[in-house]
Amino acid sequence: MAIVLSIDAGTTGVRTIAIDQHGHAVASSYQEFTQYFPQPGWVEHDAEEIWDAVQATLGEVCAGLSEAPAAIGITNQRETVVAWSRATSAPLYKALVWQDRRTAARCEALEAEGLLPTVRAKTGLVLDPYFSGSKIEWLFTKGGVASGPDTAVGTIDSWLVWKLTNGAVHATDATNASRTLLYDINTLEWSSQMCEVFEVPAHVLPEVRPSSGSFGVTGSSAACGAGVPIAGIAGDQHAALFGQTAFTEGDAKNTYGTGSFVLMNVGETCPPPVEGLLTTLAWVLDTPEGPQATYALEGAIFVTGAAVQWLRDGLQIIDEAAELEPLALQCETTDGVYLVPAFTGLGSPHWDPYARGTLVGLTRGTGRPHIARATIEAMVYQTRDVVDAMTKASGTPLQSLSVDGGASVMGLLMQLQANELGVPVRRPTMQETTALGAAYLAGLATGVWGSLDEIAEHWELDVEVRPNVDRSATEAGFARWHRAVERSKGWEEA
Ligand SMILES: Nc1ncnc2c1ncn2[C@@H]1O[C@H](COP(=O)(O)OP(=O)(O)OP(=O)(O)O)[C@@H](O)[C@H]1O
Ligand SMILES: [Mg+2]
Repeated sequence: MAIVLSIDAGTTGVRTIAIDQHGHAVASSYQEFTQYFPQPGWVEHDAEEIWDAVQATLGEVCAGLSEAPAAIGITNQRETVVAWSRATSAPLYKALVWQDRRTAARCEALEAEGLLPTVRAKTGLVLDPYFSGSKIEWLFTKGGVASGPDTAVGTIDSWLVWKLTNGAVHATDATNASRTLLYDINTLEWSSQMCEVFEVPAHVLPEVRPSSGSFGVTGSSAACGAGVPIAGIAGDQHAALFGQTAFTEGDAKNTYGTGSFVLMNVGETCPPPVEGLLTTLAWVLDTPEGPQATYALEGAIFVTGAAVQWLRDGLQIIDEAAELEPLALQCETTDGVYLVPAFTGLGSPHWDPYARGTLVGLTRGTGRPHIARATIEAMVYQTRDVVDAMTKASGTPLQSLSVDGGASVMGLLMQLQANELGVPVRRPTMQETTALGAAYLAGLATGVWGSLDEIAEHWELDVEVRPNVDRSATEAGFARWHRAVERSKGWEEA
């Protein structure tokens, strides 16, 4: 039976999974890497450590395989940028991570110049330090990186393709390109206008290819051995949408990981910009008629699961993430406590890089259970904020929400989310949907799977949770949430 390898290079670690033709994981390996916080609001990774984690997990998974893998798919933390030397393959600076806020003032200045409508129309994004464009500019203007012919720049996927192919291929896929602020999602090309704004010379950028197609073959130094085709790439949230087999217009998913990202398939025509949300490429498939793009609306929530890590590592009120739900169940409500986890500013639908985390409504009766429950409720309310914006824009109410990601194991989260949205929340048996999506993209290009319909047959329901309260019961709490959000906004000064 054919095996497809999937490399999921996330924000906190790399997971490599071997996936069989049924879409089941047959082997898996995970390795964390270091998070660097050199200044408040700055977040960096070492690209070499990410590569080492890829090699270690790839090696471990491949050691247990009895046959050569048919293909490799790559999925990755999005927007994070690396610059490296083509001659030596050495990184020229630490990777600037999507959570990094160092370019907030620059984005604000560009907005003051009136650039936002152009950005919305061409890239589907907004002017926020979250995206790659201002980070690449920073590397050149403040980071001392030369922009000459030896310099290559790219998101993590393109760095890994470069390393896996021994420097033979400098390419990315259209979903990753669509997060850079430099890519025109209407024409599927780098935008010369946006590259001029951020002074990014075209020669440093990777070639953009369909998400399912050819990205070269592995070289002899890759831990899986030489000659394995790299045949699928997508940013983690796009891969998760594909892994949830959300192939029909209106299908939506939410991944509760470090942050939460709600994506809805909106079909093959690029829709007009929606206030508070992003328009992005869901994926681009290689067809005999040429590249075929599918678009998505996206709500990007920066912190959900990361707030659980903060309770564990920062406040130390739990020892491990799995203690959160039992602790939260020790109280029936938060008694008016709200946590707005705006630790790195607020994304959709508020877009405020100066917002900061806020814990309000504390009384002498507040205890650990209330804060635990408020952390789960923050995931639920933030998701409702973006789903409301999405359904308002599309004019069609959501039918159900497919969920995945580390925090989606919590039954309480699923129940509260179903109640807050008024629709069933569904979780598949295969929860590594991000890795699965990248494997599907790679297997589709190499004949492991013949069609989207064939792939969709592998989606299996694990748990479905239906609303168990009247919709009106949630309204007062949701209104109060917005009062808490207002208090978190504009806290940090430019
Ligand atoms: N049992 C649990 N209860 C609550 N939260 C959990 C639990 N297990 C994991 N989490 C949270 O889920 C998150 C990890 O989920 P996941 O691995 O999907 O994240 P991710 O965003 O994909 O990570 P990466 O960015 O590294 O890819 C962590 O932030 C963690 O706090
Ligand atoms: Mg992930």
